[in-house]
Formats: sequence, C-alpha cells, structure tokens
Amino acid sequence: MKIIFLGAPGAGKGTQASAVSRALDIPTISTGNMIREAIAKGTPVGLAAKSVIAEGKLVSDEIVVGIVREKLNSLDGGYILDGFPRTVAQAQALESMGEDIDKVVNIYVPDEVIIERSAGRRYCPKCGATFHVKYNPPKEEGGKSVCTVCGSEVAVREDDKPEVVKQRLKVYHEQTQPLEAFYAERGKLRTVIGQEEVKDTTRLTLDAIKGD
Ligand code: AP5
Repeated sequence: MKIIFLGAPGAGKGTQASAVSRALDIPTISTGNMIREAIAKGTPVGLAAKSVIAEGKLVSDEIVVGIVREKLNSLDGGYILDGFPRTVAQAQALESMGEDIDKVVNIYVPDEVIIERSAGRRYCPKCGATFHVKYNPPKEEGGKSVCTVCGSEVAVREDDKPEVVKQRLKVYHEQTQPLEAFYAERGKLRTVIGQEEVKDTTRLTLDAIKGD
C-alpha cells in the first residue's frame, strides 16, 4: 500500500507512521527526518534547510521533491509518506511521478494540544524515534534520558521552541491544510481524530487504511 500521513506539526504523524510501518511491514519515508539527517551531516541540502527549519518555515518544493523522488526511485513496493506532500505543488509533483496513492490519512489534533505535545517532545538524533516526557517517555539510564530503540541520548528539537511551533502551525494552516480538499476531491482522504492514546489512534488509523 502507498499511504500519505497528513496533519499539523506534532499531530502524531511520525508516531503513527512507525506503528503502522511495523503493522503493515512497509517502510516510512519521513522528509523531516531526512532533512534533519542532512543538517547533522552538513550536506548541501542540510546547509540550505538549517535556517529555514529553525524559523518554522517550509524547505523549498524543489529541494524536497528532489529528495523524495530519489528515495522513491530506490524503493519497490508500498510505503508511508510522513510529512510529504506539504504543499499543493508537492502533491502535483508526486502525481506527475506516477505514484498511485491508496489512502491519505489526515490526523486531526486541535492547535492547543499541538502546543503541549511539542513542548514535551524528545527525539533521538541517531535513529529518529520520537518520545514525549509524559505520554511516551524515553528510558532513564545513568541520569540521562535515552532512546528505547537504540539507547542514544534523546534531545529537544530546535523547532519545538514555542514561538517556532506557532509559526509552524501558521504555515500548516496556510500551505498544507489545502491538501485536505485536494485529496478529498480524489476520494482518498480519511480523517482520524488523533487525541486518543497512541495505541488507540493506531487502531483508528489502521481501520481508516484498511476500510473503504
Ligand atoms: P517534520 O519533522 O515532518 O515536522 P512536522 O510535520 O512539523 O511534524 P512533527 O515531526 O513535528 O510532528 P508529528 O506529526 O510527526 O508528531 P509526532 O509523532 O512527533 O518537519 C520538520 C521541518 O522540516 C518542517 O517544519 C519543514 O521546515 C521541513 N520539512 C519537512 N517536510 C517538508 C516538506 N514536505 N516540505 C517542506 N519542508 C518540509 O508527535 C508529537 C509529540 O506528541 C511527540 O512527543 C509524541 O510522543 C506525542 N504524541 C504523539 N501521539 C500522541 C498521542 N496520541 N497522545 C499523546 N501524545 C502523543
């Protein structure tokens, strides 16, 4: 299956993408993780993206479409796209690549919950796993908070500062939310309420993917 996860920053796309990826045995392509890796390695994409991400804006369509195209060319079979497309231009580029998407799952969470989730988020710079200090805590070991997947110390994302989160939400409402209508017109949009516990949201997400 080829699935897209839509939703505001912090709605739980990454959390659900890893659960659904395990359940359906298909890979996740997270443009946010790919860009953060590029920044950590100091590649040309990373250098171009660093200040844009820190300001809560979107990386250019040209750069993001380029990295997704390269990744899709290396894959054979299904996948979950987490965080792409994020503009109508990106969605049109994906269609022009001939990718036939089965379902677009839109995870809905109100803005005030997003702000609380982002404040408590921790992530693993090594493997990209995501945690929350209250709802999905990392492991405490030797006085450090560490990733339950690979054991590396977890960190706070630069773009989780409250003022940057507000800017990301603004960008989301202006540039990404129009994709709901784009995919509804194509009969592919399924909206899931993302305020249940993580495992319950996974169940709702899998129902949406497997249903009509
Ligand atoms: P990206 O990393 O994709 O960020 P995002 O879309 O803003 O989404 P997040 O990763 O912030 O949140 P999420 O929805 O995955 O939620 P999560 O599961 O972590 O992109 C970062 C930046 O890269 C962008 O701002 C942009 O600059 C650039 N970029 C990326 N893709 C791009 C594109 N296509 N075009 C242009 N630029 C692009 O969950 C959030 C928190 O909530 C976690 O702490 C989690 O543990 C917790 N949580 C999750 N579910 C629940 C639950 N049910 N109950 C309680 N807590 C929960």
